[in-house]
Amino acid sequence: MSKVKAAVFASGTGSNFVAMMNCKELACEIVLLVCDKPGASVIEKAKYFGVQTFVLNPKAFNDKREYETEVLRAVREVGAEWIFLAGYMRLIGHTLLNAYEEKILNIHPSLLPSFPGKDAIGQALAAGAEITGVTVHYIDEGMDTGPIIAQKQVKVLPEDTEETLKYRIQKAEHVLYPEVINQVVRKERLWPVE
Ligand code: GAR
Repeated sequence: MSKVKAAVFASGTGSNFVAMMNCKELACEIVLLVCDKPGASVIEKAKYFGVQTFVLNPKAFNDKREYETEVLRAVREVGAEWIFLAGYMRLIGHTLLNAYEEKILNIHPSLLPSFPGKDAIGQALAAGAEITGVTVHYIDEGMDTGPIIAQKQVKVLPEDTEETLKYRIQKAEHVLYPEVINQVVRKERLWPVE
């Protein structure tokens, strides 16, 4: 039986994309990478794995609706039922939210609602947090505000720099995200837990 299809949206390095591709038991097939940053290194990674890429510059569009209409067309064309944001540094608008209601997941490098937005790891260090972590959540129109599905704690060590903390946070992400994707796609986990 063929697997459910999914698209990954990313803007940067793509280590979470690679973690999904390397997960042999992933319950869905990643059929498309959408990237809003021409030149981002995730694009080469997608090509390596033979995943179709759709790269577009949001500045080439008049507004978010026009941009997302183009993205939606590409995602529908490949038959993706799910969208997984993996370092996609852009708020999702109503065009995609309405079309993929409760079908868009995001991963964020903090224990939300703490440290939303950009540079969550730097924010945790600056705040002197002793524990931070990783959150996988459904997307809504806010910045890292949708219903939380799963979290994993990561201890902040006294000697941590952004680099060392990021390394351990991303190691946790690479395990948690594929696990949650599988639970959600297989409907083992239907709605967020507190
Ligand atoms: C990940 O750590 C992800 O949690 C974060 O961007 C990084 C992307 O890394 N996302 C956010 O901060 C979203 N607000 P990657 O490109 O190596 O997967």
